[in-house]
Amino acid sequence: MAGAAGRMGQAVVAAVEGAEDLELTGRADPALGTALAGVLDDADVVVDFTRPETALDNALRCVAAGVHVVIGTTGFDVEPLREAAAPAGHRRANVFVAPNFAISAVLMMRFAAEASRHMARAEIVELHHDGKLDAPSGTAARTAQLMQGEVPIHSVRLPGLVAHQEVILGDVGQSLTIRQDSYARESFMPGVLLAIRRVPDLAESPLVGLERLLF
Ligand SMILES: NC(=O)c1ccc[n+]([C@@H]2O[C@H](COP(=O)([O-])OP(=O)(O)OC[C@H]3O[C@@H](n4cnc5c(N)ncnc54)[C@H](O)[C@@H]3O)[C@@H](O)[C@H]2O)c1
Repeated sequence: MAGAAGRMGQAVVAAVEGAEDLELTGRADPALGTALAGVLDDADVVVDFTRPETALDNALRCVAAGVHVVIGTTGFDVEPLREAAAPAGHRRANVFVAPNFAISAVLMMRFAAEASRHMARAEIVELHHDGKLDAPSGTAARTAQLMQGEVPIHSVRLPGLVAHQEVILGDVGQSLTIRQDSYARESFMPGVLLAIRRVPDLAESPLVGLERLLF
């Protein structure tokens, strides 16, 4: 687990320890005094919930070591991962990236994409806890990417929030609001565990979006 001491990292550690078919082999986090390099040898899969400026470098190190990686960190460019290939002599390592591991968020993105084909305009309001480093959120950016037309994004950061988003679509005399709320980090865990189990067998890499594993 990369980012094992963080909010998401602690939740993933607990989820993996609670899963009978998975074994936690290491916790990497500067806050624990442990580096990723020190846990790579024992891992089949690394899960990364770190920071926007470290996730890409961590993923490249994993791929170079032949270790699959599941990335939940948001706010970084995934493009360089497309060029990253495992060096000769190493087994192929896959990369799976999801800006949001909650099933309700994946459904929200899907319904928003569908609705945007029928409504004149749309805007996104994303709301997160005030410890979140990136804005707009990875989920909002991904939602806008999946929708038709230009979709402005508004970011709210307040204590007490976890992860929430409203997609508001407007047309003559009518509007539609699609709202998704993650009230607790446990909402992301079924998606993270699914990705850990499936990442070794991906047909393409990097694969982006939990919907690619679900539908
Ligand atoms: N994909 C999703 O469903 C989802 C859900 C929630 C949060 N997130 C994203 O996950 C990331 C982490 O969020 P958080 O709230 O847990 O943050 P956090 O700040 O609580 O935790 C991040 C942890 O990473 C550690 N870290 C920093 N550099 C590291 C490195 N090089 N190697 C290993 N660990 C390192 C930090 O010490 C910290 O403990 C953010 O980018 C956030 O947007 C994604």
